[in-house]
Amino acid sequence: MNFKEELDRKTKGVEAILRRYLPLEEGYRGRVAEAMNYSILAGGKRLRPLIMAESAALFVDTASVYEEQEIPEQELKVQDVLTRQALPLFMTALEMIHNYSLVHDDLPAMDNDEYRRGRKTTHVVYGEGMAVLAGDGLLNYAFETAVRAFDSAGTMEEFRRVAESMRILAGRAGIDGMIGGQCADLEAEKPDTEVTEDMLLYIHEHKTAALIQAAMAIGAILAGASREEVAALEKCAYNIGIAFQIQDDILDVTSSLEILGKQVGSDEKNHKLTYVAVYGLEESKRQVERLSEEAVQILASFPRRNLFLEELVQQLIYREK
Ligand code: IPE
Ligand code: IPE
Ligand code: MG
Ligand code: MG
Ligand code: MG
Repeated sequence: MNFKEELDRKTKGVEAILRRYLPLEEGYRGRVAEAMNYSILAGGKRLRPLIMAESAALFVDTASVYEEQEIPEQELKVQDVLTRQALPLFMTALEMIHNYSLVHDDLPAMDNDEYRRGRKTTHVVYGEGMAVLAGDGLLNYAFETAVRAFDSAGTMEEFRRVAESMRILAGRAGIDGMIGGQCADLEAEKPDTEVTEDMLLYIHEHKTAALIQAAMAIGAILAGASREEVAALEKCAYNIGIAFQIQDDILDVTSSLEILGKQVGSDEKNHKLTYVAVYGLEESKRQVERLSEEAVQILASFPRRNLFLEELVQQLIYREK
């Protein structure tokens, strides 16, 4: 199977997992569930859940995670219980947090964007109030989903791994993670803010790298990685995250609504502090390459090589959406 086919198959596997845990659109709160599902089911690269599962695969066999059917209890091997049951819950939770961040990021009060993944943004379809609630709903539902992972823990060691994963999920999404980055991103827009290289890096580290770090760390922890191994992967994810945001900023200048699925020129419209604005396109492209190469080198140093993950990181350098 070539890389593209494998990526398609695994992305479909992630889609199937997400559908398993979506809220039902019923009752007086049906409308908010609809808006949540509108955001989640719009497609997207599903990069964070994929990276989580593939990071676990550096330590254990995770092939079954992409399979459509849930595996019956009696067929579960004890040592695989966390990667088979807790891993899909955390993959879903992280994608929900990512989607909430996008719903809020697109609001008129933030980036004021009308298109995402080739469709109208959530607030355009459901109204601003409902979009705020859909974001809140996704964030909370993420934790309602992730916390179910405790049910699959049978030993103290498994409890510890789930608890550690919860801590990372919460922290990387919070004010010292993604929300912190979004805060600095808004502050930097103001004409009277003195913007520095330090601030630019803080924004990228937090608004984007933090959730990718959560993906790698949680995948590894659930699969039983050591502290040192988790630290190495967090460094790797840091590089991927910064490179990923620089590429996002490049595409905001060079792409089109048709290809990207979101309106281009959004950063200039909002006076955003980006790598492209500070260093220009060519230097930004070089940074993406350098950071990604370093990330691949870290991945290649693990004894159980994951060539699919290495290729995925390579491909992100040249991604067009
Ligand atoms: C967009 O993330 C927001 C950034 C952090 C740059 P993605 O590019 O992963 O968005 P989807 O999920 O594929 O639409
Ligand atoms: C957003 O960065 C990062 C988030 C945490 C949502 P951008 O504002 O550049 O993301 P896009 O371009 O709207 O997807
Ligand atoms: Mg933004
Ligand atoms: Mg935006
Ligand atoms: Mg952007």
